[in-house]
Amino acid sequence: MNTLRNKRVLITGGAGFIGSNLCESMLLAGNEVVCLDNFATGKRSNVAEFEGNPRFELVEGDIRDPGICRKAMEGCDLILHQAALGSVPRSINDPLTSNDVNITGFLTMLHSAREVGIKRFVYAASSSTYGDSKALPKVEDVIGLPLSPYAVTKYVNELYAHVYHQLFGMDIIGLRYFNVFGKRQTPDGAYAAAIPKFIKAFIEHRSPVLHGDGTQTRDFTYIANVVQMNHLAATTTRPEALGKVYNAACGDRTNLLDLVQIIREALLPFDPAIADVPIAFGPPRQGDVRDSLADVSRAKRLLGYKPTHRLKEGIQEAIGWYWHNLSEQEGGDA
Ligand SMILES: NC(=O)c1ccc[n+]([C@@H]2O[C@H](COP(=O)([O-])OP(=O)(O)OC[C@H]3O[C@@H](n4cnc5c(N)ncnc54)[C@H](O)[C@@H]3O)[C@@H](O)[C@H]2O)c1
Repeated sequence: MNTLRNKRVLITGGAGFIGSNLCESMLLAGNEVVCLDNFATGKRSNVAEFEGNPRFELVEGDIRDPGICRKAMEGCDLILHQAALGSVPRSINDPLTSNDVNITGFLTMLHSAREVGIKRFVYAASSSTYGDSKALPKVEDVIGLPLSPYAVTKYVNELYAHVYHQLFGMDIIGLRYFNVFGKRQTPDGAYAAAIPKFIKAFIEHRSPVLHGDGTQTRDFTYIANVVQMNHLAATTTRPEALGKVYNAACGDRTNLLDLVQIIREALLPFDPAIADVPIAFGPPRQGDVRDSLADVSRAKRLLGYKPTHRLKEGIQEAIGWYWHNLSEQEGGDA
Protein backbone atom coordinates (compact mmCIF):
# COMPACT_ATOMS: atom_id res chain seq x y z
CA MET A 1 0.00 0.00 0.00
CA ASN A 2 1.16 3.56 -0.68
CA THR A 3 1.74 5.24 2.65
CA LEU A 4 2.24 8.97 3.16
CA ARG A 5 5.73 9.52 4.62
CA ASN A 6 7.95 12.43 5.63
CA LYS A 7 5.38 15.13 4.92
CA ARG A 8 3.82 17.80 7.08
CA VAL A 9 0.10 17.16 7.12
CA LEU A 10 -2.74 19.24 8.54
CA ILE A 11 -5.53 17.10 9.98
CA THR A 12 -8.63 19.10 10.86
CA GLY A 13 -10.92 17.47 13.38
CA GLY A 14 -7.83 15.59 14.57
CA ALA A 15 -9.21 15.30 18.12
CA GLY A 16 -12.28 13.48 16.83
CA PHE A 17 -12.76 9.79 16.21
CA ILE A 18 -11.55 9.49 12.61
CA GLY A 19 -9.14 12.43 12.83
CA SER A 20 -7.30 11.04 15.87
CA ASN A 21 -6.85 7.68 14.15
CA LEU A 22 -5.43 9.57 11.17
CA CYS A 23 -3.08 11.54 13.45
CA GLU A 24 -1.84 8.27 14.95
CA SER A 25 -1.25 6.61 11.59
CA MET A 26 0.37 9.65 9.99
CA LEU A 27 2.75 10.05 12.94
CA LEU A 28 3.62 6.35 12.88
CA ALA A 29 4.46 6.64 9.17
CA GLY A 30 7.00 9.38 9.95
CA ASN A 31 5.01 12.48 9.08
CA GLU A 32 4.69 15.73 10.98
CA VAL A 33 1.09 16.34 12.02
CA VAL A 34 -0.71 19.59 12.73
CA CYS A 35 -4.09 18.98 14.33
CA LEU A 36 -6.67 21.78 14.06
CA ASP A 37 -9.68 21.27 16.30
CA ASN A 38 -12.01 23.38 18.42
CA PHE A 39 -13.10 20.41 20.59
CA ALA A 40 -16.76 20.91 19.66
CA THR A 41 -17.19 17.13 19.67
CA GLY A 42 -13.56 15.98 19.85
CA LYS A 43 -11.84 14.98 23.09
CA ARG A 44 -8.54 16.03 24.58
CA SER A 45 -7.98 12.45 25.63
CA ASN A 46 -7.98 11.46 21.92
CA VAL A 47 -4.80 13.47 21.30
CA ALA A 48 -3.19 13.23 24.75
CA GLU A 49 -0.88 10.41 23.66
CA PHE A 50 0.55 12.49 20.76
CA GLU A 51 1.17 15.67 22.69
CA GLY A 52 4.71 14.85 23.81
CA ASN A 53 5.70 13.98 20.25
CA PRO A 54 7.89 16.73 18.69
CA ARG A 55 6.33 15.93 15.30
CA PHE A 56 2.84 16.73 16.60
CA GLU A 57 1.36 20.22 16.93
CA LEU A 58 -2.09 21.04 18.25
CA VAL A 59 -3.78 24.22 17.04
CA GLU A 60 -6.93 24.91 18.99
CA GLY A 61 -9.29 26.87 16.79
CA ASP A 62 -12.25 26.96 14.47
CA ILE A 63 -12.28 26.07 10.78
CA ARG A 64 -14.61 29.02 10.22
CA ASP A 65 -11.79 31.40 11.15
CA PRO A 66 -9.67 32.09 8.03
CA GLY A 67 -6.73 33.41 10.09
CA ILE A 68 -6.57 30.20 12.15
CA CYS A 69 -6.89 28.06 9.02
CA ARG A 70 -4.00 29.85 7.31
CA LYS A 71 -1.85 29.66 10.44
CA ALA A 72 -2.45 25.92 10.82
CA MET A 73 -1.69 25.31 7.12
CA GLU A 74 1.57 27.25 6.98
CA GLY A 75 4.37 24.91 5.94
CA CYS A 76 2.06 21.93 5.37
CA ASP A 77 2.27 19.78 2.26
CA LEU A 78 -1.31 18.62 2.30
CA ILE A 79 -4.58 18.62 4.21
CA LEU A 80 -6.83 15.84 5.47
CA HIS A 81 -10.02 17.74 6.29
CA GLN A 82 -12.18 15.86 8.81
CA ALA A 83 -13.65 18.64 10.98
CA ALA A 84 -17.42 18.89 10.76
CA LEU A 85 -20.50 18.44 12.90
CA GLY A 86 -21.61 14.88 12.24
CA SER A 87 -24.98 13.28 12.94
CA VAL A 88 -28.22 13.45 11.00
CA PRO A 89 -30.40 14.11 14.11
CA ARG A 90 -28.10 16.96 15.22
CA SER A 91 -28.55 18.64 11.85
CA ILE A 92 -32.33 18.27 12.04
CA ASN A 93 -32.37 19.84 15.53
CA ASP A 94 -29.91 22.62 14.68
CA PRO A 95 -29.51 23.03 10.92
CA LEU A 96 -28.00 26.52 11.19
CA THR A 97 -24.94 25.39 13.14
CA SER A 98 -24.42 22.28 11.00
CA ASN A 99 -24.66 24.46 7.89
CA ASP A 100 -22.23 27.02 9.28
CA VAL A 101 -19.55 24.55 10.38
CA ASN A 102 -19.92 22.06 7.56
CA ILE A 103 -20.35 24.47 4.64
CA THR A 104 -18.82 27.80 5.68
CA GLY A 105 -16.06 25.94 7.53
CA PHE A 106 -15.37 23.72 4.55
CA LEU A 107 -15.24 26.64 2.14
CA THR A 108 -13.00 28.58 4.50
CA MET A 109 -10.59 25.64 4.57
CA LEU A 110 -10.64 25.24 0.81
CA HIS A 111 -10.20 28.95 0.18
CA SER A 112 -7.38 29.22 2.73
CA ALA A 113 -5.61 26.22 1.19
CA ARG A 114 -5.68 27.94 -2.17
CA GLU A 115 -4.34 31.17 -0.66
CA VAL A 116 -1.53 29.37 1.16
CA GLY A 117 -0.76 27.33 -1.97
CA ILE A 118 -1.59 23.82 -0.73
CA LYS A 119 -2.68 21.72 -3.69
CA ARG A 120 -3.60 18.38 -2.14
CA PHE A 121 -6.85 18.52 -0.20
CA VAL A 122 -8.43 15.24 0.89
CA TYR A 123 -11.77 15.60 2.69
CA ALA A 124 -14.35 13.58 4.56
CA ALA A 125 -17.47 13.29 2.43
CA SER A 126 -20.40 11.10 3.42
CA SER A 127 -22.58 8.23 2.25
CA SER A 128 -25.55 10.41 3.30
CA THR A 129 -25.10 12.11 -0.09
CA TYR A 130 -26.85 9.08 -1.66
CA GLY A 131 -30.01 10.36 0.05
CA ASP A 132 -33.22 8.82 -1.25
CA SER A 133 -31.60 6.92 -4.12
CA LYS A 134 -32.83 3.32 -3.97
CA ALA A 135 -30.04 1.98 -6.15
CA LEU A 136 -27.83 -0.66 -4.51
CA PRO A 137 -24.91 -0.92 -4.44
CA LYS A 138 -24.18 2.81 -4.31
CA VAL A 139 -22.04 3.94 -7.22
CA GLU A 140 -20.41 7.35 -6.89
CA ASP A 141 -22.14 9.01 -9.84
CA VAL A 142 -25.71 7.98 -8.98
CA ILE A 143 -27.07 9.96 -6.04
CA GLY A 144 -30.58 10.87 -4.90
CA LEU A 145 -32.01 13.86 -3.07
CA PRO A 146 -30.69 14.53 0.46
CA LEU A 147 -32.76 13.32 3.43
CA SER A 148 -31.34 15.68 6.07
CA PRO A 149 -29.61 19.04 6.49
CA TYR A 150 -26.40 17.09 7.27
CA ALA A 151 -26.64 15.37 3.89
CA VAL A 152 -27.14 18.75 2.20
CA THR A 153 -23.97 20.08 3.83
CA LYS A 154 -21.90 17.10 2.75
CA TYR A 155 -23.19 17.33 -0.80
CA VAL A 156 -22.44 21.06 -0.96
CA ASN A 157 -18.86 20.21 0.09
CA GLU A 158 -18.58 17.98 -2.96
CA LEU A 159 -19.89 20.75 -5.21
CA TYR A 160 -17.34 23.26 -3.88
CA ALA A 161 -14.58 20.66 -4.17
CA HIS A 162 -15.52 20.09 -7.79
CA VAL A 163 -15.50 23.80 -8.56
CA TYR A 164 -12.12 24.41 -6.84
CA HIS A 165 -10.61 21.46 -8.70
CA GLN A 166 -11.95 22.75 -12.03
CA LEU A 167 -11.19 26.44 -11.52
CA PHE A 168 -7.91 26.32 -9.65
CA GLY A 169 -6.46 22.90 -10.50
CA MET A 170 -6.29 21.83 -6.85
CA ASP A 171 -5.72 18.10 -6.24
CA ILE A 172 -8.91 17.47 -4.34
CA ILE A 173 -10.26 14.05 -3.38
CA GLY A 174 -13.45 13.36 -1.41
CA LEU A 175 -13.90 10.15 0.54
CA ARG A 176 -17.53 9.24 1.14
CA TYR A 177 -17.31 7.47 4.47
CA PHE A 178 -19.90 4.77 5.20
CA ASN A 179 -20.70 4.20 8.92
CA VAL A 180 -17.16 4.12 10.22
CA PHE A 181 -16.37 2.42 13.56
CA GLY A 182 -13.33 1.73 15.71
CA LYS A 183 -11.38 2.89 18.72
CA ARG A 184 -11.90 6.41 20.10
CA GLN A 185 -15.46 6.65 18.73
CA THR A 186 -17.61 8.10 21.47
CA PRO A 187 -20.67 6.21 22.75
CA ASP A 188 -21.91 9.27 24.63
CA GLY A 189 -24.61 11.79 23.91
CA ALA A 190 -27.76 11.83 21.84
CA TYR A 191 -25.80 11.94 18.59
CA ALA A 192 -23.51 8.96 19.11
CA ALA A 193 -23.18 6.33 16.37
CA ALA A 194 -24.84 2.93 16.68
CA ILE A 195 -21.85 0.63 17.25
CA PRO A 196 -20.28 2.31 20.31
CA LYS A 197 -23.77 2.97 21.71
CA PHE A 198 -24.76 -0.69 21.40
CA ILE A 199 -21.44 -1.85 22.90
CA LYS A 200 -21.76 0.49 25.87
CA ALA A 201 -25.35 -0.59 26.46
CA PHE A 202 -24.34 -4.28 26.52
CA ILE A 203 -21.40 -3.58 28.84
CA GLU A 204 -23.80 -1.87 31.25
CA HIS A 205 -26.42 -4.63 30.85
CA ARG A 206 -28.88 -2.18 29.31
CA SER A 207 -30.88 -3.06 26.18
CA PRO A 208 -29.43 -1.58 22.99
CA VAL A 209 -32.26 0.28 21.23
CA LEU A 210 -32.69 -0.34 17.51
CA HIS A 211 -34.58 2.35 15.63
CA GLY A 212 -37.16 0.67 13.36
CA ASP A 213 -37.42 -3.10 12.97
CA GLY A 214 -33.67 -3.73 12.81
CA THR A 215 -33.71 -4.95 9.21
CA GLN A 216 -32.20 -1.74 7.83
CA THR A 217 -28.72 -2.34 6.44
CA ARG A 218 -25.42 -0.49 6.55
CA ASP A 219 -21.98 -0.93 5.05
CA PHE A 220 -20.15 -0.76 8.39
CA THR A 221 -16.56 0.29 7.73
CA TYR A 222 -13.69 -0.37 10.07
CA ILE A 223 -11.41 2.60 10.74
CA ALA A 224 -8.34 0.80 9.31
CA ASN A 225 -9.99 0.83 5.87
CA VAL A 226 -10.67 4.56 6.14
CA VAL A 227 -7.10 5.27 7.26
CA GLN A 228 -5.82 3.29 4.27
CA MET A 229 -8.03 5.32 1.90
CA ASN A 230 -6.63 8.56 3.31
CA HIS A 231 -3.04 7.39 2.74
CA LEU A 232 -3.93 6.39 -0.82
CA ALA A 233 -5.72 9.65 -1.58
CA ALA A 234 -2.84 11.61 -0.05
CA THR A 235 -0.24 9.91 -2.22
CA THR A 236 -1.85 9.12 -5.55
CA THR A 237 -0.05 10.58 -8.54
CA ARG A 238 -2.58 9.44 -11.13
CA PRO A 239 -4.15 12.52 -12.73
CA GLU A 240 -7.39 10.60 -13.40
CA ALA A 241 -7.72 9.86 -9.66
CA LEU A 242 -7.90 13.56 -8.75
CA GLY A 243 -11.01 15.73 -8.58
CA LYS A 244 -13.19 12.74 -7.72
CA VAL A 245 -15.17 11.32 -4.82
CA TYR A 246 -14.75 7.72 -3.68
CA ASN A 247 -16.85 5.39 -1.60
CA ALA A 248 -14.81 4.66 1.51
CA ALA A 249 -16.45 1.47 2.70
CA CYS A 250 -16.09 -2.23 3.04
CA GLY A 251 -18.42 -3.27 0.22
CA ASP A 252 -20.53 -5.49 2.48
CA ARG A 253 -23.82 -4.85 4.20
CA THR A 254 -25.20 -6.04 7.50
CA ASN A 255 -28.58 -5.43 9.10
CA LEU A 256 -28.80 -4.06 12.62
CA LEU A 257 -30.15 -7.32 14.09
CA ASP A 258 -27.07 -9.19 12.83
CA LEU A 259 -24.80 -6.34 13.94
CA VAL A 260 -26.12 -6.57 17.50
CA GLN A 261 -25.55 -10.33 17.48
CA ILE A 262 -21.95 -9.92 16.26
CA ILE A 263 -21.28 -7.36 19.00
CA ARG A 264 -22.89 -9.55 21.66
CA GLU A 265 -20.75 -12.56 20.66
CA ALA A 266 -17.56 -10.47 20.67
CA LEU A 267 -18.32 -9.28 24.22
CA LEU A 268 -19.15 -12.70 25.71
CA PRO A 269 -15.51 -13.62 26.53
CA PHE A 270 -15.36 -10.44 28.65
CA ASP A 271 -18.74 -10.91 30.33
CA PRO A 272 -20.86 -14.04 29.71
CA ALA A 273 -23.90 -12.38 31.32
CA ILE A 274 -24.26 -10.20 28.20
CA ALA A 275 -25.85 -13.28 26.55
CA ASP A 276 -29.04 -12.51 28.51
CA VAL A 277 -29.36 -8.77 27.80
CA PRO A 278 -32.48 -8.31 25.62
CA ILE A 279 -32.57 -5.86 22.72
CA ALA A 280 -35.24 -3.13 22.43
CA PHE A 281 -36.90 -1.39 19.51
CA GLY A 282 -37.70 2.31 19.13
CA PRO A 283 -39.42 4.32 16.41
CA PRO A 284 -37.59 4.73 13.07
CA ARG A 285 -35.44 7.87 12.94
CA GLN A 286 -36.25 10.76 10.64
CA GLY A 287 -33.75 11.39 7.89
CA ASP A 288 -32.16 7.94 8.06
CA VAL A 289 -31.29 6.08 4.90
CA ARG A 290 -33.00 2.64 4.78
CA ASP A 291 -30.26 0.60 3.11
CA SER A 292 -26.65 1.27 2.36
CA LEU A 293 -24.05 -0.74 0.49
CA ALA A 294 -21.09 0.72 -1.33
CA ASP A 295 -19.57 -0.25 -4.63
CA VAL A 296 -15.88 0.23 -3.90
CA SER A 297 -14.61 -0.60 -7.37
CA ARG A 298 -13.65 2.99 -8.21
CA ALA A 299 -11.39 3.19 -5.16
CA LYS A 300 -9.89 -0.20 -5.98
CA ARG A 301 -9.27 0.74 -9.61
CA LEU A 302 -7.97 4.29 -9.27
CA LEU A 303 -6.45 4.35 -5.78
CA GLY A 304 -5.42 0.72 -5.33
CA TYR A 305 -7.71 0.33 -2.31
CA LYS A 306 -7.86 -3.11 -0.67
CA PRO A 307 -10.12 -3.25 2.38
CA THR A 308 -8.33 -5.20 5.11
CA HIS A 309 -11.15 -5.63 7.63
CA ARG A 310 -14.75 -6.76 7.25
CA LEU A 311 -17.26 -5.90 9.98
CA LYS A 312 -16.56 -8.96 12.17
CA GLU A 313 -12.79 -8.55 11.88
CA GLY A 314 -13.03 -4.87 12.80
CA ILE A 315 -15.22 -5.62 15.82
CA GLN A 316 -12.81 -8.37 16.90
CA GLU A 317 -9.83 -6.01 16.61
CA ALA A 318 -11.50 -3.13 18.44
CA ILE A 319 -13.53 -4.96 21.07
CA GLY A 320 -10.72 -4.99 23.64
CA TRP A 321 -10.39 -1.22 23.31
CA TYR A 322 -14.14 -0.76 23.74
CA TRP A 323 -14.23 -3.07 26.75
CA HIS A 324 -11.38 -1.32 28.54
CA ASN A 325 -12.40 2.22 27.69
CA LEU A 326 -16.18 2.03 27.86
CA SER A 327 -16.32 0.03 31.07
CA GLU A 328 -13.93 2.45 32.77
CA GLN A 329 -15.63 5.50 31.38
CA GLU A 330 -17.93 6.51 34.23
CA GLY A 331 -17.85 10.31 34.32
CA GLY A 332 -15.18 10.44 31.54
CA ASP A 333 -14.54 13.57 29.50
CA ALA A 334 -17.23 14.80 27.14
N1 LIG B 1 -18.05 8.51 11.58
C1 LIG B 1 -18.69 8.23 10.46
O1 LIG B 1 -19.25 7.14 10.30
C2 LIG B 1 -18.73 9.23 9.33
C3 LIG B 1 -19.50 8.90 8.19
C4 LIG B 1 -19.52 9.82 7.14
C5 LIG B 1 -18.79 10.98 7.22
N2 LIG B 1 -18.10 11.27 8.34
C6 LIG B 1 -17.35 12.54 8.39
O2 LIG B 1 -16.04 12.26 8.87
C7 LIG B 1 -15.55 13.39 9.59
C8 LIG B 1 -15.06 12.97 10.97
O3 LIG B 1 -16.14 12.37 11.67
P1 LIG B 1 -15.98 11.68 13.09
O4 LIG B 1 -16.91 10.52 13.12
O5 LIG B 1 -14.56 11.49 13.41
O6 LIG B 1 -16.62 12.81 14.03
P2 LIG B 1 -16.05 13.51 15.35
O7 LIG B 1 -17.19 14.34 15.86
O8 LIG B 1 -15.47 12.48 16.25
O9 LIG B 1 -14.89 14.43 14.78
C9 LIG B 1 -15.10 15.71 14.24
C10 LIG B 1 -14.04 16.62 14.80
O10 LIG B 1 -14.20 17.92 14.21
C11 LIG B 1 -14.04 18.89 15.24
N3 LIG B 1 -14.78 20.10 14.86
C12 LIG B 1 -16.11 20.27 14.74
N4 LIG B 1 -16.41 21.52 14.41
C13 LIG B 1 -15.22 22.17 14.29
C14 LIG B 1 -14.87 23.51 13.98
N5 LIG B 1 -15.81 24.43 13.72
N6 LIG B 1 -13.56 23.84 13.95
C15 LIG B 1 -12.59 22.93 14.24
N7 LIG B 1 -12.88 21.64 14.56
C16 LIG B 1 -14.18 21.28 14.58
C17 LIG B 1 -14.65 18.23 16.47
O11 LIG B 1 -14.23 18.83 17.69
C18 LIG B 1 -14.14 16.81 16.31
O12 LIG B 1 -12.89 16.62 16.91
C19 LIG B 1 -16.68 14.40 9.61
O13 LIG B 1 -16.49 15.30 8.53
C20 LIG B 1 -17.91 13.57 9.34
O14 LIG B 1 -18.96 14.31 8.74
C21 LIG B 1 -18.05 10.43 9.41
